[in-house]
Amino acid sequence: MAENRGLALRFIDDVDAPFSQRLALVSKPLAQLNKGEVRVKVLASPVNPSDLVYLRGQYGVPPADAAFAGFEGCGVVVAANAGLYGKWLLGKRVAIAATPGADGVWAEYVTTLASYCLPVRKDIDDVQASTLIVNPCTVVCLLARAKEIGTQAVVINAAASQVGKGLIRLAKMQGVKTICTVRSQANVAVLRELGADAVLLTTDDDYPEQLKALAHEWRARVLLDAVADMDTPSVLRAMPAGSTAIVYGRLQETRDPLGGRFSVADVIFRRIKIEGFWLADFMKKASPLKVLSVSRQVQKLFAEGVFHTDIRGEYGFDDFMPALEHYAEHKSDGKVILRP
Ligand SMILES: NC(=O)c1ccc[n+]([C@@H]2O[C@H](COP(=O)([O-])OP(=O)(O)OC[C@H]3O[C@@H](n4cnc5c(N)ncnc54)[C@H](OP(=O)(O)O)[C@@H]3O)[C@@H](O)[C@H]2O)c1
Repeated sequence: MAENRGLALRFIDDVDAPFSQRLALVSKPLAQLNKGEVRVKVLASPVNPSDLVYLRGQYGVPPADAAFAGFEGCGVVVAANAGLYGKWLLGKRVAIAATPGADGVWAEYVTTLASYCLPVRKDIDDVQASTLIVNPCTVVCLLARAKEIGTQAVVINAAASQVGKGLIRLAKMQGVKTICTVRSQANVAVLRELGADAVLLTTDDDYPEQLKALAHEWRARVLLDAVADMDTPSVLRAMPAGSTAIVYGRLQETRDPLGGRFSVADVIFRRIKIEGFWLADFMKKASPLKVLSVSRQVQKLFAEGVFHTDIRGEYGFDDFMPALEHYAEHKSDGKVILRP
């Protein structure tokens, strides 16, 4: 039986262990295809914060020991057991989301549901295509939800992230103002250049006053929150009464497995609301037509240059571990791409 090489999870119950110790390069027999599944030869796959959280055992699904890691990528469909749709996918280049809890994308081949494969336009290269599900689809969903809540402006924290940059560009197109927060000076100019309406440095002494003044002047009633922990209550405190935080990440590392805080007083007396967003839920609940329509919108935005993922470099199995450790500490340097 043919073999499949990849980076398998070695679960270590110690939050301080380096990421490179949590993965091992192993070979296993190629998985049989169950009904509804396709086999994809992987061309490229990024490292995202969700991969790091998963490797540490703090993600929304328990870590599957010995399974290949990696949540998204791009590849070519080489075998299918998924009816007519599977046959149609054969030979096509697709963006792939891994089936949570099963073998992931950091391997030569991945088996996933045909419904988790999105055919990719020819004018998007393999590396950009490997990043088009997790972050860009989240950007589209978050902004749609912010507009549904009803706001003229959004506050975006950790705004130099790839999600943050996508939000800035899309919000500009859609006439929603952006108040961006970053913690390093170097990112201020980058985001201004990108079209952010305001960029605030969280280390400035008068940061809370600046944030409060702008959030009220521009009536920003939605916080798009990737940081969580103390950032959620403190940013919401600066925003108008009745504001909503859509929490979609927890970049502020904490030893508390529950993560996150909120101000009880603000929830009661200032009608502050907090809700979550998880793309995996959206993908599970949305109809295939809805997923295809978001994918088309995202790919058009890539082709027009509105969406673009910053890449730090491309790595093989041999030089991937140091790149992974670098990404964990320096996420603003751009995505690390595995080329199996
Ligand atoms: N819920 C979902 O379905 C979903 C989907 C997609 C993404 N996400 C989440 O979205 C977030 C962004 O993902 P990404 O791939 O766009 O990130 P990314 O490109 O890897 O960048 C992360 C950014 O966050 C900043 N950062 C890291 N730790 C921080 C902290 N404690 N406080 C403030 N800023 C911090 C980094 O800036 P520095 O230079 O200052 O370190 C960097 O600019 C992640 O939390 C990810 O899990 C969630």
